[in-house]
Amino acid sequence: MTNTHTILNTVLASEHILYQTLRNYHWNVEGREFLELHEFFETLYTKELELVDEIAERMRALDLRPDSTFKLYIEKSLLAEEEQTSLESRKMLENLVSSYSLLVEKYTSFLDGLDPVTEGFIAEIIEGHQKNLWMIKSLLK
Ligand SMILES: [Fe+2]
Repeated sequence: MTNTHTILNTVLASEHILYQTLRNYHWNVEGREFLELHEFFETLYTKELELVDEIAERMRALDLRPDSTFKLYIEKSLLAEEEQTSLESRKMLENLVSSYSLLVEKYTSFLDGLDPVTEGFIAEIIEGHQKNLWMIKSLLK
């Protein structure tokens, strides 16, 4: 398995786990900001869903096989699954700041040693996550 293959499967797994955490928050958020956050989490998980598909298809374009089971996603993800279903909304947002920040940091460390096109692809994911972080942090102010 090449470095590129390992990295892209790690990114795929991590984004898949983040997608499910966002669905969890979308379903379970409560409080005065319910409507706003319920919709905001939907916006974020919709982006994740598109991203997961783009990552897997980028892998196929490189003639690599994307992992396709939850078992492997849990094993390879940089993020742990969210097991709580009754978090305070503020805690949900704080957890998302931690998760997106960790992905930005780790993905940045992956950039060296990739082919230029895959490097650009990962850089765009980082850029998207930095934008998500700006929005989530703004909600926490
Ligand atoms: Fe929904």
